[in-house]
Amino acid sequence: MKRYEFPAEFLWGAATSSHQVEGNTHNDWSEWEHAKANQLSKTARERLHSESVAVSGQKHDVIPPEALTAENYISGIAADHFNRYEEDFDLAKSLGHNTHRFSIEWSRIEPEEGKWNQEAIEHYVQVVAALRARGLEPFVTLWHWTMPIWLAKKGGVESRGFPAYFERFVRMMVEALKKDVIYFTTLNEPTSVIVNSYLFGNWPPQKKSLLSALRVFHRLAGAHKRAYAAIHKLHPAAQVGPAHAVIYSEPHSPRLLDRLSASFSGFISNHYFMRLIGNTTDFIGIQYYFHQRIAFPNHIHNENERVSDMGWELYPHGLTPLLISFQKYGKPIYITESGLADAQDQHRIWYLTETLKAIHVAIEQGVDVRGYLHWSLLDNFEWDKGFWPHFGLISVDRTTLKRTPRASALYYKTICETNQLEEQTP
Ligand code: BGC
Repeated sequence: MKRYEFPAEFLWGAATSSHQVEGNTHNDWSEWEHAKANQLSKTARERLHSESVAVSGQKHDVIPPEALTAENYISGIAADHFNRYEEDFDLAKSLGHNTHRFSIEWSRIEPEEGKWNQEAIEHYVQVVAALRARGLEPFVTLWHWTMPIWLAKKGGVESRGFPAYFERFVRMMVEALKKDVIYFTTLNEPTSVIVNSYLFGNWPPQKKSLLSALRVFHRLAGAHKRAYAAIHKLHPAAQVGPAHAVIYSEPHSPRLLDRLSASFSGFISNHYFMRLIGNTTDFIGIQYYFHQRIAFPNHIHNENERVSDMGWELYPHGLTPLLISFQKYGKPIYITESGLADAQDQHRIWYLTETLKAIHVAIEQGVDVRGYLHWSLLDNFEWDKGFWPHFGLISVDRTTLKRTPRASALYYKTICETNQLEEQTP
């Protein structure tokens, strides 16, 4: 038996985001879903195919029948977490978690420009209280991609005004939550939005413009910086950081051009945003899903020994070198997301085990990792893929919304409760 112990006070838990689980949100995404559901159902197979080639270098087009229906693409009631959060937090607690990451739905808080919905603010005060009552440390995400319609109409994250609007919303929420919240992530995965919404045109507002993508890079960095300063002014003890999507890029061969491609891609995806925000962070939230073995200029040659239901390669080992590459910033690191679409729960136990071992190796080498939040607590609405990918430790029946923890959730529970991973050795 091999034992991997984690540092004292390690945070263990899972993450969700408002639009993906709450239900009945009205924002730029919900409008887009209604407009595009038919088209998304018709193009499901080819989109899955081209995305899997882009991210893992291998065609994947095995999708369940619901992916070909329009209703799969409408977030609708989602997991009805807005009404069932107490039941969900009871489950998280019973599964050994000591933290939970969730996001605030801006479109509920400020449905019209400058008009604040006190009832919605109070809802999140209650959500935080419910976490605290169960001994779960709240990990609050201030922006997880969706926004009020009025703001989307003004140009959303690309608009010049975005950082100021964001700061105003952040101040409102931090004032309301500061007595019970220490950890705030400002923006969820800025680079995913830049690439998918502004460069490749997959997500609303479906732009394909390098200029817009660059502009959004800078707007989001500016928004993060303003939020960071504003939060600290209101709440000096807060711990604030971005939730940053990272990709492990390595060269396909020792050829110079392959090496240059891999390091360029690694710099743009992992370190450019960090450079833009400089020292305005107390911790770094790392979100790891992708590995790329790159041949010049950008062909992906992954081995794909195991892939998720979405055809994404499962490569947990990439997390060790990635974490080591973030050590230079001298900040504590929380893994704010890591997970996989795996409806049958075939790979999740293996994935958790190998991911935690990869983190442990980094910790042994001196990287200050302080928490692991699995994506996701619940099966949820996976953006332009809709409901069919199942990321939850807990499955959610689409008809009855009944929650059932998967076997992997029980495996993870032991790890959370003992603060260690025990591996049977042959
Ligand atoms: C996002 C989540 C998403 C998950 C799986 C992350 O990029 O933050 O919202 O569901 O990955 O794709």
